[in-house]
Amino acid sequence: MATAAREHWNSRFGFVAAAVGSAVGLGNMWRFSYLTAEKGGAAFVGLYLLFTAAVGLPVMLAELTIGRGSGKSPILALAHYGGARWKALGGLFVATGFLILSYYSVIAGWTLRYAGEALIIGLPADPGAHFGEISQGFGAFLFHLAFMGLTMGIVAGGVTKGIERVSVVAMPLLFVLVCGIALYAATLDGAGAGYAYYLNADLDNAFSMDVLVAAAGQAFFSLSLGMGAMLTFASYLQRDSNLPNESLIIASADFGVAFLAGLMVFPIIFALGLSADISGSTLGALFVALPKAFINMGGIGRLIGLLFFLALVVGALTSAISLLEVVVSAAVDGLEWTREKAVIVMGLMISMLGAASAWSLNILDVMDQIANNIFLLGGGLALSIFVGWVMDDPLAEVAEGASGVRWFFAWRQLLRWVVPAVLVFVLYHSVPTTVANIGMLWRGE
Ligand code: PHE
Repeated sequence: MATAAREHWNSRFGFVAAAVGSAVGLGNMWRFSYLTAEKGGAAFVGLYLLFTAAVGLPVMLAELTIGRGSGKSPILALAHYGGARWKALGGLFVATGFLILSYYSVIAGWTLRYAGEALIIGLPADPGAHFGEISQGFGAFLFHLAFMGLTMGIVAGGVTKGIERVSVVAMPLLFVLVCGIALYAATLDGAGAGYAYYLNADLDNAFSMDVLVAAAGQAFFSLSLGMGAMLTFASYLQRDSNLPNESLIIASADFGVAFLAGLMVFPIIFALGLSADISGSTLGALFVALPKAFINMGGIGRLIGLLFFLALVVGALTSAISLLEVVVSAAVDGLEWTREKAVIVMGLMISMLGAASAWSLNILDVMDQIANNIFLLGGGLALSIFVGWVMDDPLAEVAEGASGVRWFFAWRQLLRWVVPAVLVFVLYHSVPTTVANIGMLWRGE
């Protein structure tokens, strides 16, 4: 066991900024928009909101409770409350963080490149061809490495001097950027068609299992749940923090930014007549359609494009930090490595694994589906059973710092019955769907 006292966040805002930073990322701006386009608009958004509130929020509070209560990284935290055999679940969390960061950083690398290009040489003349060139291969790998380097540098700085210091600046900046671009988008002629597409429910589609599974997976991914990121950040909390409040703030901010992202993406795309570019959207569609839109806007497009990709980079960075911190904190606590050693060894291993996703978009897509639709949902299921049934008196832990709060009285019952039932149902459908999708991608469609 490390002998040094555990670090604590400097301020309440520091924790909230870091946790919101973890939640808000590519999931909100890239993944949410492309899934909304692919799954047909508002019905998906509604289901996603429902999952966030009914399933995501209770699981978020469960993670914060285990984290603050144990003051340990995931593997030891689960052993603390559940005994040694629960270490395996903590191990799964760490492995999931490892897997997600490996491909997340590749996408973040694209955004880094787009932002850099918008700043220095301008947007590409043919975004479709450009995306084809930069999204796979050696260039993608280099930008992935650059992004991993940034992430590693911040995590090496430690919890307060690295993660907190960056988050308290990055999060307000991100918020201003997203609001600013959404406001600008509202002034475009023809923005209305974008809002109509975004906010009109396509009810025929809403009840397909595919949409349901995607909405559930997206809720977990976007809230950073099911792999111990929130747990790890909460392990650096002081005991007087109000956990139910913090979970509400984090979930609302996360949904808020995703919703705002839709308010910037869809009007821009529709105002410039590019809706065909995102119909039946794929992973890369936004990276083609949006630059096209920015180019069509003329001079100001370059600036808006720069700000847009800057927002993506900032969001991705604060999320990547939390993914790496899960892996690093496990190595520091469990293997008694120094933070520097953990950052270097784990960071390099993750960078190597990312080579596979940088090599092929199909591999990236497969990893994303496995991580979200199976690991995060499965991790969330195990976690809700753990706090619902195994852990002694989680309510007493939550009540500390939150004794005046009434709404969480039903929380443990939700974790016992509702959350597992919903997740078992979703997993029952998502596992075969995901396996089928993987087969398709593997065979090249
Ligand atoms: N929530 C992050 C996003 O929306 C991704 C993430 C998932 C981060 C899981 C940490 C853990 O981009």
